[in-house]
Amino acid sequence: SGGAEGWGDLHGVRVVVSAGGTREPLDAVRFLGNRSTGHQGFALAEAARERGADVTVVAAHVNLPVGEGIARIDVSTTAELGAAMRAQAESADVVVMAAAVADFRPAQVAGHKIKKSGDGGLTLELVPTEDILKRLTAARRPGQLVVGFAAETGDDSGSVVEHGAAKARRKGADLLCLNEVGAAKGFGDRPNAVRMLDAQGAEVASVEGSKLVVAHGILDQVVRLRHQV
Ligand code: CTP
Ligand code: CA
Repeated sequence: SGGAEGWGDLHGVRVVVSAGGTREPLDAVRFLGNRSTGHQGFALAEAARERGADVTVVAAHVNLPVGEGIARIDVSTTAELGAAMRAQAESADVVVMAAAVADFRPAQVAGHKIKKSGDGGLTLELVPTEDILKRLTAARRPGQLVVGFAAETGDDSGSVVEHGAAKARRKGADLLCLNEVGAAKGFGDRPNAVRMLDAQGAEVASVEGSKLVVAHGILDQVVRLRHQV
């Protein structure tokens, strides 16, 4: 589905999309971060705008311009992203967590630059960040849809789909968009393949193509779900 049939089907709907990757400061000059570029989140914002939505992106370190008519809020840390998303969610009809969120942050943030001590190593103590998606899902208003993403790799304890289904059940989002990540998939401005799971972990749709095509495929499901509530 290219979404052309969907022109205007999100008219007047308020959509909030997080994009990019959060960074957690370690000291005065360093941070823990990830390689997310924000392309998928920005493509979703663009696609939602094309379909008539009133769109806000909450961007964590995204080095891309937003399209015309899209509101942008820039944030850095997971705590900032969480606060911005909760504030926006109060008036949003559709909330999409496309950002790659740091799962941990350094327990202490040094005000100075951490120095080497001889040839010794360095052990960092990390503490968990808040789970923004879980909180948004728990606070969901009647009629509001919450969409999450999951970047999965297969491993000894399960396949991509098994991990994705377990995560869908754990998060409880209306739609969890699952993409397999690896060196050549998922990151940057490259073609993408996404499977969409419901809150029970069942696959409801899939879409493959450019990030804009994938974005429209996801929004097709958002429109379908909006008609169900
Ligand atoms: N997410 C979030 N807050 C976090 C971590 C993740 O809101 N602290 C959101 C992401 O934006 C995404 C979804 O949760 O929409 C799934 O993220 P993912 O990293 O795949 O799942 P985790 O629950 O963090 O599990 P893990 O990294 O261990 O696979
Ligand atoms: Ca994670």
